[in-house]
Amino acid sequence: MEMAWVLVSMTLRGLMLVVILLWTVTPTDGGEDCVLPCSFLPGSDELSHWLKPEDKDLSVHSYYYSTDQLKQQSQRFRGRTALFNDQIPKGNASLLLRGITLQDQGRYKCYTSTVKGNMESFINIAEEAPVHLVDIQLSDDIITCRSTGIYPEPKLTWSTDPPSDLSFDPGTIQNSTSIKVDDQGLYDITSTKQFSGDRTNICTVTSGTVERTATLKQQAPVQGSLSSEVSIPCSVSQSDILTFNLTWRFNQIDTILTSTYTNGTAQMYIDDQWKEQVQSLSDSGSLQLHKLTMVHQGTYSCELSTARDTHLILTYLQITPDKLSDVSDGLSPGSITGIIIAAVIIAAVICYLLRGFLAKYKSNMAI
Ligand SMILES: *[C@@H]1O[C@H](CO)[C@@H](O)[C@H](O)[C@H]1NC(C)=O
Ligand SMILES: *[C@@H]1O[C@H](CO)[C@@H](O)[C@H](O)[C@H]1NC(C)=O
Ligand SMILES: *[C@@H]1O[C@H](CO)[C@@H](O)[C@H](O)[C@H]1NC(C)=O
Ligand SMILES: *[C@@H]1O[C@H](CO)[C@@H](O)[C@H](O)[C@H]1NC(C)=O
Repeated sequence: MEMAWVLVSMTLRGLMLVVILLWTVTPTDGGEDCVLPCSFLPGSDELSHWLKPEDKDLSVHSYYYSTDQLKQQSQRFRGRTALFNDQIPKGNASLLLRGITLQDQGRYKCYTSTVKGNMESFINIAEEAPVHLVDIQLSDDIITCRSTGIYPEPKLTWSTDPPSDLSFDPGTIQNSTSIKVDDQGLYDITSTKQFSGDRTNICTVTSGTVERTATLKQQAPVQGSLSSEVSIPCSVSQSDILTFNLTWRFNQIDTILTSTYTNGTAQMYIDDQWKEQVQSLSDSGSLQLHKLTMVHQGTYSCELSTARDTHLILTYLQITPDKLSDVSDGLSPGSITGIIIAAVIIAAVICYLLRGFLAKYKSNMAI
C-alpha cells in the first residue's frame, strides 16, 4: 500500500490561507476521498459552482435552486462529488471529492453567490507519494540504491562520510541513475556506484518535501572459530531513537533475525535455520553467534531502519577451523597416536562440515 499526502493550499480573496491536510491515498484502489474547503457569508438564494479553471472551467459540481445541478458536470467527476447540503445555509460549500487520482491534481475554483453578494476562492490539490523506503545493496563492489512508488519525480544523490569529492572520484559512474514510471504514474529510481570501501556510502532520494537516505559501510572483518563464540558488532550511532527495526542478514539474502523496537520495547524473530547459531542480540545490536560451521563464513549485514533512514553495515566473518591448527603441532615425539587422533578429528571435522553444508544446501533448496 502506498502512502500519499494531499497538500491543499487555499487562496481566499487575497487573504492567504494555507491548509495542509494529511491524506492517505492508495493508488491501487483509485485513491482516497478529500474534502475541498469553501466558505461564504450565509444568505438566501445560494448558488455554488466548483470549476477547474486550468481545464477550460470544467464543471466539477454545481448547486442552485436549493438542489444539486449536475447536467453540465464533466464526465470525469460523475458520481465522485457531493456537497454537504445541510451545511450550505451555514455558508459552507465544501466539496467532497472521492477516489482522487493523480489526474485530479491542480487548481479548483469555488464560486458562490447569495443575495448578499459573490465570492470566489481557490484551492490546489497536489499529490505526493513520498519516498518511504530506500533499499541499498552491495554486489561485486558495486552499490545499488533503489526506491519505488514515488510521486512527484524523485532525485537521487550519492555522497560519502567522510566526504570525498565525488566529481573527481573515479568510482562515481556517470549516467548510472535510471528512472521509470509505472502504470499508476509513480516513479521507480535506481542508481549504481562503485563502492568506496574506506568510508560510509550515502544514497539520498528526494521527492517533493520528503527526503530519505540509506547508508552502507563495511567494517573490519571479524575472526571466529568453530569452537568459540563470536560477536559481530553493529555500530550505528543512533542511540537517541526508540522506534526502529534491526535486521541481521547473511550474505545479504538470508534473514537471520529481525527485531522491532517500539518505544524501546523489542520484539525479536529468529529464522528457524539460525536458531542453533544465534545466542543472543546485545543491547547495542551486536549479534552473538555460537556452534558455527564453515558454511557460516560469509558477510553479515546489520540493517537498522527508522522511518527516515536505513543504515547497512557489512562485516565479513572469517572462520578458522581451529582443530586443524592443532595438527601442525602434532608431529612431536610419541605422536603416532597423535596423528591418528588428528586424522580422526580431521575426518570428523570434514564430515561435520559436509553435513552442515548439505543441511544448509537442502534448506536453501527448500526456499
Ligand atoms: C463544512 O462541512 C464539512 C462537512 O460537514 C466539514 O467537514 C467542514 O469542517 C465544514 N467547514 C466549515 C468551515 O464549517
Ligand atoms: C547518458 O547516456 C545517454 C545514452 O546512452 C546519453 O545520450 C547521455 O548523453 C548520457 N548522459 C551523461 C550525463 O553521460
Ligand atoms: C510511543 O510513545 C509515544 C510518545 O510517548 C506515544 O504517543 C505512542 O503511542 C507510543 N507508541 C506505542 C506503540 O506504545
Ligand atoms: C518495522 O517493520 C514493520 C514490519 O515489517 C513495519 O511495519 C514498520 O513500519 C517498520 N518500522 C520502521 C521504523 O521501519
